[in-house]
Amino acid sequence: MKKNLTILAAAATALFTSCGSNSPDLYKDSSQPTEARVESLLSQMTLEEKLGQLNLLVLGRNNNINNIESGEKNAFSPLTGGYIYFSESAEMANEVQKRTIEESRLGIPLILGMDVIHGYKTIFPIPLAQACTWSPEMVTEASKVAAKESRLSGLRWTYSPMVDVARDARWGRVSEGYGEDPHTNAVFGVATVKGYQGENLNDEYSIAACLKHYAGYAYSQGGRDYRATEISPVALWETVLPPFHACVEAGAATIMSSFNDVNGIPATANEYLIQDVLKERWGFDGFVVSDWSSVRQLINQRYAVDTLDAGVKSIIGGTDMDMYDGIYLKYFEEALADNKLTMNYIDEAVRRVLRIKFELGLFENPYAEVVEDSLRYLLPESLELAEEVAANSMVLLKNEANTLPLTGKKNILLVGAMANNAENLLGNWHCNGAEEDVVTILEGLKSEFGNSSKINYLEGADFESNNSGVISRLRSAANSSDVIVLALGEMNHWSGENGTRSTLSLPSAQEALVEAAHKTGKPVVLLLTSGRPLELCRIEPMADAILQVWQPGTMGGSAVSSILSGRRNPSGKLSITFPYSTGQIPIYYNQRANARNGNQGDYQDIPVTPMYTFGYGLSYSTFEYSDITLSKNEASKTEKITATITVKNNSTTDGVETIFWMIDDPVATITQPSLKMKHFEKAAIKAGESKEFTFEIDPSRDLSFVDGTGETHLESGEFRIVVGDKIAKLSLK
Ligand code: GLC
Repeated sequence: MKKNLTILAAAATALFTSCGSNSPDLYKDSSQPTEARVESLLSQMTLEEKLGQLNLLVLGRNNNINNIESGEKNAFSPLTGGYIYFSESAEMANEVQKRTIEESRLGIPLILGMDVIHGYKTIFPIPLAQACTWSPEMVTEASKVAAKESRLSGLRWTYSPMVDVARDARWGRVSEGYGEDPHTNAVFGVATVKGYQGENLNDEYSIAACLKHYAGYAYSQGGRDYRATEISPVALWETVLPPFHACVEAGAATIMSSFNDVNGIPATANEYLIQDVLKERWGFDGFVVSDWSSVRQLINQRYAVDTLDAGVKSIIGGTDMDMYDGIYLKYFEEALADNKLTMNYIDEAVRRVLRIKFELGLFENPYAEVVEDSLRYLLPESLELAEEVAANSMVLLKNEANTLPLTGKKNILLVGAMANNAENLLGNWHCNGAEEDVVTILEGLKSEFGNSSKINYLEGADFESNNSGVISRLRSAANSSDVIVLALGEMNHWSGENGTRSTLSLPSAQEALVEAAHKTGKPVVLLLTSGRPLELCRIEPMADAILQVWQPGTMGGSAVSSILSGRRNPSGKLSITFPYSTGQIPIYYNQRANARNGNQGDYQDIPVTPMYTFGYGLSYSTFEYSDITLSKNEASKTEKITATITVKNNSTTDGVETIFWMIDDPVATITQPSLKMKHFEKAAIKAGESKEFTFEIDPSRDLSFVDGTGETHLESGEFRIVVGDKIAKLSLK
C-alpha cells in the first residue's frame, strides 16, 4: 500500500491526458491503472458528489448493546460514500447499491461496512482471547471465515482489527485488542488484516480491514472510555504506534481515528498523527474514517467552536471520511466560501476513498453473491475452527492436585450464571452472531461426557442478585457430587465499548457461590467467562482449578467441555496480566525499572506481584527448559545471532508449549522496559519428547529502541536474552 502519492497522482494525470483519452469513461476501464481511474473520476465530480463520498451513514438497526442507537436508520441517499450496514440481507445490500449506482450521475458504488470484530455469524473468541492462542495462523483462518460470511452478506469492509495496546482492564475495550504488549498486537493485527484482505482486495471473499483506534485510545485516563489521554512521545513511538505501523506495512486498507484527545489535540483532528506520521512518513494511501461522531465530539472536547469548525479541523487533520454526522456534506460548501478550507483537502480525501473502492473491485463487481444461509453461515468447518480457536484461547490458571481433567468423575454438579447462558458466551461486539447457534457450557458438558458422567445442573444462579436460594440447593446437591463446576463471569455489556468498570472483581453474589462450593469440601472447578482480566484474590484460594474461558463465541460450550474431559490439553497463555487486585493497576510485564531496589515504594497492603503475569498458562503436560545457547556471545551491530533453547515434555501427556523470547537492555540512553517480547513460537511436543526452539536475533530489529521522534537507536553494550527464568548474556560491540 505504500506509494508516493504525489508522484503517482501526477503520473496518473499525465497518463490520463497523454493517451489522449480524456474520455470521461476512463475510470470505468478496469484495465487502466488505479491512479488514472481515480484522477479521471475525480476530475468530473461536482463538490456535492465529492462530499457525498466523504459521508458515511447508517442503514439498519444497531443492536450492539454498548452503543445501541434508538430506532432503525434508513437514511438512503445517493449522496453517500457508504453505510454502516447492520442488516444480514445481501439482497437488501444489492438493492441499495443498485439504487445508488443508477440514481447517481457517475454511478460510484457504495462501500458497506460493519463491526465484524471476532466473526460475522460464526463467532470466534474475542480478540484478547485470540491472542492467547499464540497462533497467528489460526487467527488468520478465523478472519477468513469472518470475511467470507461478511462478503456474502453484502459487506466489503470491517472496522477491525483493533490494535490498541491496553494495560488498564477497567477499560472495557481491552477485550477488543490483543493485550498489553506491542509485538503481540502487531503480529495478531497483521494476521487479522491478512485474513480479511487476502492476497488482493478484489479477491472473491476479501473485505477491507480498518485499523483502530488511531491512536492511543487505550490510554484513556483511569480506564474511563472516551476520556483524554496523556501519552509521552516515547510511549507513543515505543508502545502505541508499532502495531499500527506493522499493519500499514501489511497493507491495511483503512484506518479509524479515535475518540480520545491526545495530549491536547483530539486524534480525529491530529495532524501530527495522521498527516505527518501515518500518511507522510509511513506512506499510508488508504483512507481514514472518523469514529462514530468523533468529528462532532471535537466540540465536547473543547477543540472546535461548532460543527463547521469541527469538520474543517478534522479533514485538515487528515480524517477523510465522516462517520454518522454528515458534517462534511452539510458544511464544507460554506467552509470553502468562507475560506476556512481549500479544495485540495477535499480532493485528497476523495482520492483516497475512490482508490480503495477501485482496489476493492467495487466498480466491476458491486453486488453481493446471494446464496442460501446454509451455504453462507455457520458451515461445519467454520464451527470446527471456532471450537478449535476457542479451546486454544482458554487459559488454565490453576489446577491443584490435577483436579482437571474430570476423568472418572461420575457426578458433576454444574452451577452458575454462565452455566446455561448463550448470549454472554458470544461476548461483546458479536456482530450478527445469534444466541440460538451457541453451544452453552451445559450443552457442551452433556455432549462431551454423554453417559460417562451425570451432569447435575442447578439453575437459577444470577450474575448480580442474591444467590442464597441456589446456595442452599448447592449444599445439599454437593453431597451426591464428585466435583462442583462453577460457571461464572461477566455479562457482555460489562466490557466492550462504554464498558468501563471501577473494579475487576465479580459481583459478591458470584463470590458467595464460590465460598459456598468451597465449604462443601468437594473439588471446585471455576470457569470464568469475561472480556477482561478479573480480580481473583479472594476466590482463587477457594478454587481447586480455574479455567479462563474469556468470551469464546458460538462453540464456547464445546471448547470448554473438551478441556474439562481431557480430550484437549489446554495450551492458552495470557496476553494480558491479571492484577492481584484492581488497585494494583497499572501492572504489566514490560514496565520500566523502579528507582529503588526490591519492592520499595510498592503498595504496602497487597502483594507486589500480579495474580498471573503475561504469558502465564498451565497445561496437563509439564515442560522442562534447557539453558539458552547463543551462536555467539559477542557480536557486532550488523551480525545476527541465533538463540536456541530446548524444551522437554517431561510428562506422560502430549502437549503444546509456547515460548516467549524477551530482550532485556539493562542500560540505554533512553531507559528501556525491563523486558520486551520480540518473538514467540508455539509447538506441539509429545510426551517424553523434546523440541528445539530458535530465534534469529537481528540487532537492528531486536536490540534497538526508539526515541520520542520515532527514530531508532542501536547502542553497544550488554544485553540479556530471556525465556522464562533462563537468561543468556550477549555483548554488542
Ligand atoms: C463505535 C466504536 C468503533 C466502531 C464504530 C462503528 O463507537 O468506537 O470501534 O467501529 O463506532 O460502530
